[in-house]
Amino acid sequence: MLNLNKRIVIFYLLLITIFYSVRGQNVFIANSQNRNLTSLNGKWKYIIDLYETGQTGFMPLYMNIKPKDKTDRVEYSFDQARTLWVPGSWNTQKPELYYYEGTIWYRKTFDKKDISEDKRYFVYFGAANYLSTVTFNGKILGKHEGGFTPFCFEVTNLIKEKENCLIVGVSNTRSNDQIPAKVTDWFNHGGLIRDVKLIETPASFISNYFLSLDKSTLNNKIKTIKGRLTLNGKTGQQKVWLIIPELKVRKEITIDASWTGNFTIDVKHLGLWSPENPILYTISIETENEKIQDRIGFRAIETKGKQILLNGKPIFLRGISLHDENPVRRDRANSVDDARLVLGWAKELGCNFVRLAHYPHQENIVRLADEMGIMLWEELPLYWGIDWDNPNVYQKAIDQYSALINRDFNRASSIIWSITNETAPTPARNQFLISLAEHIRTLDNTRLLSAACKKDQAEDGHPDNDYTLSDPIMGYLDIISFNEYLGWYGGLPAECRKKTYKASMDKPVIVSEFGGGALQGFYADSLTRWSEDYQAYLYKENLAMFDRIDGLAGMTPWILVDFMSPLRQLPDVQDGWNRKGLISEKGIKKKAFFILQEFYRKK
Ligand code: GCU
Repeated sequence: MLNLNKRIVIFYLLLITIFYSVRGQNVFIANSQNRNLTSLNGKWKYIIDLYETGQTGFMPLYMNIKPKDKTDRVEYSFDQARTLWVPGSWNTQKPELYYYEGTIWYRKTFDKKDISEDKRYFVYFGAANYLSTVTFNGKILGKHEGGFTPFCFEVTNLIKEKENCLIVGVSNTRSNDQIPAKVTDWFNHGGLIRDVKLIETPASFISNYFLSLDKSTLNNKIKTIKGRLTLNGKTGQQKVWLIIPELKVRKEITIDASWTGNFTIDVKHLGLWSPENPILYTISIETENEKIQDRIGFRAIETKGKQILLNGKPIFLRGISLHDENPVRRDRANSVDDARLVLGWAKELGCNFVRLAHYPHQENIVRLADEMGIMLWEELPLYWGIDWDNPNVYQKAIDQYSALINRDFNRASSIIWSITNETAPTPARNQFLISLAEHIRTLDNTRLLSAACKKDQAEDGHPDNDYTLSDPIMGYLDIISFNEYLGWYGGLPAECRKKTYKASMDKPVIVSEFGGGALQGFYADSLTRWSEDYQAYLYKENLAMFDRIDGLAGMTPWILVDFMSPLRQLPDVQDGWNRKGLISEKGIKKKAFFILQEFYRKK
């Protein structure tokens, strides 16, 4: 029989859980960079909370309590605390935080002038890894789970002119009921890793909008743009206009009782987005109180047998894989400059395609890819040891994929949603992913679905030379993709001469990973492991093998740049870095970079 105190504690915790589950549902604000915003980036105070007492302990940190007088006991002080830079992971800002896994509470104080009854106010986070507790002026607003997608909470009724106090607890503690699960081959960058902003909107504002080309009109002189937009409002009916000056479009959108407007627009002379010609149109969405502008490209991506068709024409995806990390700064990428650095390298390599592995990257890189004409593969970290039997994990996948699609739907460059990476085809995993694929298609039928399946046959001890790619989920996907590491995790590079892969269905095939490690500057013969020469030889043999794959429509070799990973601890070679990059963390190209560059030049 539980004693009274324990029952009170359990009741209190139950209240908190209910409270979050209600208040934790946040609003989605598309195109956050084009809103009326105040950046909250910069120096934030922080307090380490290794024993997780910051919220329910003897001194809740989010209350920002200060001593009343000299006799008063308060055992923490944000005012005297040290600072962390936001956006940025905490790991490489302080030596003592490099491998820190736990909770850190951040505080930002700010004034806000001209607060108006006719406005609404939101605190918006580009991403925070992994679990965030957001509080404002001493009130808990709610929790958000997921390390790579945007979220926001409304603070309209709490904001004041002076000394607003935004306190956020972020935990990067890993757990097997999360996405990703506990073990990954990348660094667990913790904290407020992307922009934080205060967004001000009218009482009724444009929450989200989705525009795309109606594929059925692709070959018509007059093409159709179809779309949907949603308002979030507290006031009466709204007039909403969609304006595309270059196409002479000015259309009033009718908003229904559910605050949604569906529309189609027939347009002449619509230029289609492509890598060769990344045409973007300036669109405006206007109400009497608000004007949102965006730059959107229109294109059709489809498959036909073993071909991928962009705007009706077959295209080969000359790709490369990429983590969301600025290796020189040893931090999560979080700026346009970071995006420009890596996409510049991809362009130099001869790429028209980049796999944004293994989680949603920063929004800047998706928008920059639109401008540079680089197609993208995007994915959630449904990676390795996911707890497929757990319904909460499935809900997390739904929530995170919905947030990703909300954020990137209008980006022409994004052409593929991938639903998993290297997971064993158990019945629970198959059912989870088939359901997820169906959910994604209901949200977005303008992109193709794939998944990075199967490791190479050498690991599976497969005897035959030709390895048939077969995974139960492939029947539900548009593109068959697989990771193979012949010459690295199985056999030597010469093994590639005896083997090839073939798809068990009439669908396009992408090699979503292959590669090998090399320490930049270590030269030897082509059979000396970890030398640049071995990596170059491995690329030569694999690329020759890929030329024998019937229906090969693209590839994203692993990986553009060396990246941080606690799994990689070989002294004087890895030292906490995965060395499969074609470029070192200092930005120096390895020999294999030029092997792939030459191969793409001929594609
Ligand atoms: C796997 C995995 C990657 C990993 C790579 C490697 O295929 O998908 O995340 O980094 O292999 O072993 O380097």
